[in-house]
Amino acid sequence: MSVDPNRLDTLLKEDRKFAPSEAFRAQANFNDPDIYDKALADPEAYWAEQAQNLSWFKPWTKVLEWNPPHAKWFVDAKLNAAYNAVDRHRQGPRKNKAAIIWEGEPGDSKVFTYDMLGREVDKAAHVLTSLGVKRGDRVTIYLPMIPELPISMLACAKIGAIHSVVFGGFAAASLRDRILDADSNIVITADGGWRRGGVVPLKNNTDEAVEGTSVDTVVVVPRVGKAAGAQMVDGRDHDWNELMAKASTAPFPAAEMDAEDILYLLYTSGTTGKPKGIVHTTGGYMVGVNTSMRSVFDLKEDDIHFCSADIGWVTGHTYIVYGPLSAGATTVMYEGAPDFPDRDRFWSIIEKYGATIFYTAPTSIRTFMKWGPQHVEKHDLSSLRLLGTVGEPINPEAWMWYHVHVGKEQCPVVDTWWQTETGCAMIAPLPGITETKPGSATRPLPGIAVDVVDENGDSVGAGNGGYLVIKKPWPSMLRTVWGDDERFQNTYFGKFDGTYLPGDGAHLDDDSYIWILGRIDDVINVSGHRIGTMEVESALVGHQAVAEAAVIGRSHDVKGQAITAFVTVKEGATADDALAAELKQHVAAAIGAMARPEEIIFTAELPKTRSAKIMRRLLRDIAEGRVIGDTTTLADASVVEELKKLYKD
Ligand code: WT7
Repeated sequence: MSVDPNRLDTLLKEDRKFAPSEAFRAQANFNDPDIYDKALADPEAYWAEQAQNLSWFKPWTKVLEWNPPHAKWFVDAKLNAAYNAVDRHRQGPRKNKAAIIWEGEPGDSKVFTYDMLGREVDKAAHVLTSLGVKRGDRVTIYLPMIPELPISMLACAKIGAIHSVVFGGFAAASLRDRILDADSNIVITADGGWRRGGVVPLKNNTDEAVEGTSVDTVVVVPRVGKAAGAQMVDGRDHDWNELMAKASTAPFPAAEMDAEDILYLLYTSGTTGKPKGIVHTTGGYMVGVNTSMRSVFDLKEDDIHFCSADIGWVTGHTYIVYGPLSAGATTVMYEGAPDFPDRDRFWSIIEKYGATIFYTAPTSIRTFMKWGPQHVEKHDLSSLRLLGTVGEPINPEAWMWYHVHVGKEQCPVVDTWWQTETGCAMIAPLPGITETKPGSATRPLPGIAVDVVDENGDSVGAGNGGYLVIKKPWPSMLRTVWGDDERFQNTYFGKFDGTYLPGDGAHLDDDSYIWILGRIDDVINVSGHRIGTMEVESALVGHQAVAEAAVIGRSHDVKGQAITAFVTVKEGATADDALAAELKQHVAAAIGAMARPEEIIFTAELPKTRSAKIMRRLLRDIAEGRVIGDTTTLADASVVEELKKLYKD
């Protein structure tokens, strides 16, 4: 297991504690400390009680069927996710309440009330149906952060089709891999997306991605117009606006889905080069996200929830779309970057719409720190009452800065640990109950059986570190990996029988608070985005000049981790700055800009064991300037000295 040794040092010195204020405690949805013990004693009863907050067409006959590692939650129950997120709020007092407040990058904005959103979703469901989409089909959605994105997702859910959203920052080849793996024959995209005033060529990428696949239908949402340089292909491509204008305005009946029917696929990186299609089902996922919305975020009727993530990641699926909407709140979605046109963009959005909850990533907070508090201070943020973070371990300095400059020391800070696979927050404070410590995600949520164990699977106990595990099933857990159940079993349940292995290292302090140390596998967390080292390596060796590549994550002040690639070139290629620049661009074009290596280091040889395994641990030590660890297993020890010299240069 290899985790950032600097992190543990800092964390162990951290002794600040913040108890919930009496005022916050008194009004909190969850304020009875006994909830932890009650849920622990009978998790199924706890989840069944939470499930009452959703609307079911038919109740369950059994809460859980657990045949490790396969879980079925709310057996035999029927429901529809879009009905729960939208339609049930259209009846009664929420009918004309803002469901989605959308802020466009160039400053345009739109508000959809629950009733308006419902009408759009129904029209979109008619459109998709008329294009041949049926229950169980996979619909690939490759859109920027515009309202048509949640509308498309909800339309799929209404029909019972499975959505597979691909983040708009992914390149054509990554989109193609996901389309092929999901065996999808329809893509919903836009002509282009805005990014800091520039255009992201989504339609052109889509054209490239679908070439030679079974995609026969592409729906294109006009967003940027001529600047996108998009061409429509006759017979295959359809203009979203034209289809929506012609669509039936009749209510679309919500498909009665089984609780275990798939709601969506979302791809994430793993140890091998091939991304995994994480499978989430309808009932359990909706119960998990709705519960955490009310518990961790203390969501109430009047809350304006602003999550700054992109819907292309699980954070956006859960805490922009399904969570806030299932709870009938108002969700804010923003199309652009935090610094376009100015560095106060988030704060101006919070002030403009009176956001009460703000949820962002530690990497963003570290960026705000670098920019300075003056951008925050320009705005009245007094509407805020709760702050959250997610995506990577938060350093105590960033936690404190967030607490002081954004929360004005009045807002509880919830550091939420979870993953694409878990569907919703797993380890996080309950803001009306749990005392927080800057840098710790604190303790598992009620109903979640987390532990930290050693190599044999035994609990390490307070004061020790080891593998983070989840010992019991939970409703919003992934059900499998799309098309590869064996990979699901091996990756997540292969090390400890019947126990879920998330792939993170963790330390328990003396109060048994959990301090996440970072990934223990070959996954790099760059600005809260998961990138597989193998994916970057295969992109690099796909370049004609590259013989071999080894990719590692090294610690980085703002991004958390940055990608360093050690590369050996083929005979005849010149290892110079021009080639390094070309290789960085090559990776960005193959995967997406977030995978662009921070630095390329050319070397004549990579450090390998005698069995020819690349020693990544040594490469990490070199990149982080640490004393080199044990080199006795190296085939050729001189390689390390050579590399150290190269890295210094
Ligand atoms: C990995 C999951 C869940 C939404 C965003 C990322 C890391 C996530 C925390 C946190 C420390 C965290 C873990 C995890 N991570 N949240 N609060 N503290 N680490 O989802 O792309 O599936 O990545 O992100 O390493 O395994 P993801």
